[in-house]
Amino acid sequence: MRHYTHLRDIGPKGQAQFLKIASEFKRNEPGPLLKNKVLGMLFFNPSLRTRTSFEVAMMKLGGHAVALEEGAGVWKLETEDGAVMNADKAEHVREAAPVLSRYVDVLGVRAFSRGMGQADDDVDGVINAFRRHAKVPMISLESAREHPCQGLADMLTVEESFGQTQGVKVVLSWAPHLKPLPKAVPNSVLLHAAAAGCEVVVAHPPGFELGPAVREEAARYAAESRGKISYTTDQKAALEGAHVVYTKAWGPEPRVSEDSIVASPALRGWMPTLKHFESCASDAIFMHCLPVRRNVEVSDEVLDSEFSRVVDEAENRLWVQMAALAWLFGKA
Ligand code: CP
Repeated sequence: MRHYTHLRDIGPKGQAQFLKIASEFKRNEPGPLLKNKVLGMLFFNPSLRTRTSFEVAMMKLGGHAVALEEGAGVWKLETEDGAVMNADKAEHVREAAPVLSRYVDVLGVRAFSRGMGQADDDVDGVINAFRRHAKVPMISLESAREHPCQGLADMLTVEESFGQTQGVKVVLSWAPHLKPLPKAVPNSVLLHAAAAGCEVVVAHPPGFELGPAVREEAARYAAESRGKISYTTDQKAALEGAHVVYTKAWGPEPRVSEDSIVASPALRGWMPTLKHFESCASDAIFMHCLPVRRNVEVSDEVLDSEFSRVVDEAENRLWVQMAALAWLFGKA
């Protein structure tokens, strides 16, 4: 049975195939490949793009999508094995996953980090519990470790902007935020860009390193795809010659109180302004997965500038997810 919950499910070659299929679907919609098929989506966290783009993808493919919000009209779910369920969680994944599998043909789950540290994020307990107990293919709607559909959409956007991904300089630049956000998106930017053969530079203040397991996985993909990866705490140097400025906020490791992030005026200079683009390549673009907090993570002048591809990037979620869904059903 096929799953797509992490990039390792398809690897660099699979990603290249998915991007080809997505481009083809974007040029010529494939019609009802998934007629009468049903995607179930279980959200532990809110969404605008993921929920809408998956619903529309299934509709365009001739199928249907059902969205469930855990704890909001749907029982709160326990995912730990052996839990004594004497608190607010009324149902266990051991029943919920096989039951949902009797109703739907593919199951998507969104479950962000529990904020318990890098090692816990790497275990990716919730989505992996569903993978163990579901009887149908699984797709990630973003988990603690990765956001693999966002990663694909990002690489499709890079490919469309530069005609290729190989050798494109992608600077993943940390941004300030009100709270320490999870690392799923920056992890996926690193993994997918490395797998696509990009020259990836990860720039962040000291203490905001991405986890070792993700960095090692990205290094393997870069070796396979002739990509390059480097890490720096010097944002200015990183941006020199950048083709893609990909900004994202994420929390430090070890985790700290929320106030300490905003309390540091030294970190506010990391928020991209037009000045940050002065040393970039002449055809540089700006990317962010959205949602974005204007003038906290990114300035208005960048989001509203000709550099910005954030809306194209969000649109591409639709096409890459159509490709992923078609693959899960053996139709691509
Ligand atoms: N980028 C993204 O996943 O957006 P949503 O959280 O709105 O789904």
